Amino acid sequence: MLRFLTAGESHGPCLTAIVEGLPAGLVVRSEDIDLDLRRRQGGYGRGARQQMERDAVQVLGGLWGGRTIGAPVSLLIANRDYENWREREVPPWTKPRPGHADLPGTQKYGLDDLRLVAERASARGTAAFVAVGALAKLLLATVDIAVGSYVEAIGGIMAELGDLSLDDRVARALESDVSCPDPGASERMRRAIDRARDGGDSLGGVIVVVATGLPAGLGTYAHWDRRLDGRLAQAVMGIQAIKGVEIGPAFENAELPGSQVQDPLYPGEDGPVRRTNRAGGVEGGMTNGEPLLVRAAMKPIPTMLSPIPTVDLATGGATQTEYQRSDVCAVPAASVVAEAMVAWVLADALMERYGGDDAATIQQRVRDDRT
Ligand SMILES: Cc1cc2nc3c(=O)[nH]c(=O)nc-3n(C[C@H](O)[C@H](O)[C@H](O)COP(=O)(O)O)c2cc1C
Repeated sequence: MLRFLTAGESHGPCLTAIVEGLPAGLVVRSEDIDLDLRRRQGGYGRGARQQMERDAVQVLGGLWGGRTIGAPVSLLIANRDYENWREREVPPWTKPRPGHADLPGTQKYGLDDLRLVAERASARGTAAFVAVGALAKLLLATVDIAVGSYVEAIGGIMAELGDLSLDDRVARALESDVSCPDPGASERMRRAIDRARDGGDSLGGVIVVVATGLPAGLGTYAHWDRRLDGRLAQAVMGIQAIKGVEIGPAFENAELPGSQVQDPLYPGEDGPVRRTNRAGGVEGGMTNGEPLLVRAAMKPIPTMLSPIPTVDLATGGATQTEYQRSDVCAVPAASVVAEAMVAWVLADALMERYGGDDAATIQQRVRDDRT
């Protein structure tokens, strides 16, 4: 129902995105998009690039008077760093960084300069994902669906969240520069990031995306490629460095007997209710009306100040990696990107179930379904 394409390189003039399928009449303020762009740039552990960029979106098409008109929406985010690189003569990169796209990228495209692989493989492009996801969030908000996130772990340091509500987790994460709702763990995470930076190392972590206000029945069990869980995993794994995705506590559930995992149903005023949510909000490839919980694992950043063994492709000989300007930890930023991708999948599934050509029709259909 919804489609988007992005283009642009890390040090090219800009990133662009074209978004197709949004209903007419959706109010879009560029400030709403910029808010998430700024969140993606932040987070303790980011590198110098983020101090240079001031990401802000320009909407080039698809809006009239601040509302969508059913036409494709065209977005642009300028790269300030472009000016620093356009005239610069740089020798080709020939030493692939293990864990980055460098070696398989050159094997695939035959590019002699690994920088040309990194230009598109780098996570700079996730700024465009975030801008697109912000549009999806605006559509979801019209039917009271909210998407947020928090960081659960960085470098093996786990947040202790006890029975803190999902809303509080997401709200408290916004107050932490590591996006973690547990202030004690936030402090330990910051210290771990400092240690990694001082030791020339990098860190990964675990993030959780939470969506609330979902009606039951988004997605379907009828086809493998339309199952919501599969679509969520694909979208979140489409983010650089995300190497694992689970819905609810899936890996923990796998260790328990069924009697401790399935969420029992009880009679309620408006039909069956659950008192637990170990399914993470999805049963049979569809939302079940409970909050959606998508957990994702981010591997540590591949570029590190301390060199590791690699091969110089110019000589074929053993060598060491060379440092390129880099983040030490980008887990908080990745949580904003994951929010965007989850919002995108949910907006697409919403359009599938309630789709109309204008936002008011979708709102009415969701309202009718809820009453
Ligand atoms: C928000 C974000 C920021 C990132 N920043 C860096 C970085 O500064 N340096 C780096 O080497 N990798 C960074 N990465 C990870 C690489 O983009 C990623 O590891 C690389 O593209 C290879 O893809 P893969 O890890 O999915 O195999 C970042 C990822 C994300 C999501």
